[in-house]
Amino acid sequence: TKVFGLLGHPVGHSKSPLIHNDAFSSAGMDARYHAFDVKPEQVKAAVEGIRALQLAGCNVTVPHKIAVMDFLDEIDDEAKQIGAVNTIVNQGGRLIGYNTDGRGYVESLLEELGEPLADKNILVIGAGGAARGVVTALARHGVARLTITNRTLEKANALLDIAKSLNTEAEAISRDDAESKLGEYDVIINTTSIGMSPNTDESPLSLKKLAPGTIVSDLIYNPIETKLLKEAAQRGGRTLNGVGMFVNQAALSFEHWTGMKPNRQRMKELVVETLG
Ligand code: ATR
Repeated sequence: TKVFGLLGHPVGHSKSPLIHNDAFSSAGMDARYHAFDVKPEQVKAAVEGIRALQLAGCNVTVPHKIAVMDFLDEIDDEAKQIGAVNTIVNQGGRLIGYNTDGRGYVESLLEELGEPLADKNILVIGAGGAARGVVTALARHGVARLTITNRTLEKANALLDIAKSLNTEAEAISRDDAESKLGEYDVIINTTSIGMSPNTDESPLSLKKLAPGTIVSDLIYNPIETKLLKEAAQRGGRTLNGVGMFVNQAALSFEHWTGMKPNRQRMKELVVETLG
């Protein structure tokens, strides 16, 4: 039996074991996926544990995505640019780190858009780890223009550097400016945790000036429809929730581990079913 794991803290509510175990069964693989609750001071020991116990691969989630990097043998370019790893492949004892979060998001956006990103003007709300993944993947996919708004504006500057290193035009603006220029954006993405359960009555941005037809998307998938997305729908926006990104990052990890493509639609149904 091949064993795969999730390293995070806490991990109790993760949907990853559910969808990966289902995908392993569907593929007829003799493999199991287990969520391991790893305390921050045990990250190094946990990565050594992957080697010692010969786990075939792992996902890494909050708060360990940066800390694990120090203990891996090799880190893929995109994960380096993002500065975080969410997937580890054990290749005959060599541990290789990847990041599938940003690409997972971009694939869900492309599906909703139905057209390339090349002429799209995108507003990103937030400048934390999740924003780094999204900004890096968008820039790598050749988005036309990125604007970043964040409570702490200085933190947005690090993201501008990533965009610029990938030859993508980018600027950082205040929340007030973003709200007043909202009509200029084709896609608006919330990468912050504002609106996440249990604080479901919060929204990261006023949508008063939303142009109908704009895509408003949220990385949050619990609740499935955040307050931001409900408001966007009321104002004639197209909405994209975080289920697609979650499923796509999982599917991309599964592909790194097995070389096989899992059924993303089935993964999505399992997540939505269990979130209610
Ligand atoms: P993650 O890995 O989920 O992105 P993070 O790296 O801690 O988490 O980043 C959290 C992001 O949400 C940041 O952009 C943060 O803004 P600051 O850089 O100003 O801290 C933003 N954020 C979190 N709570 C917020 C709040 N109550 N109001 C505004 N922004 C908030």
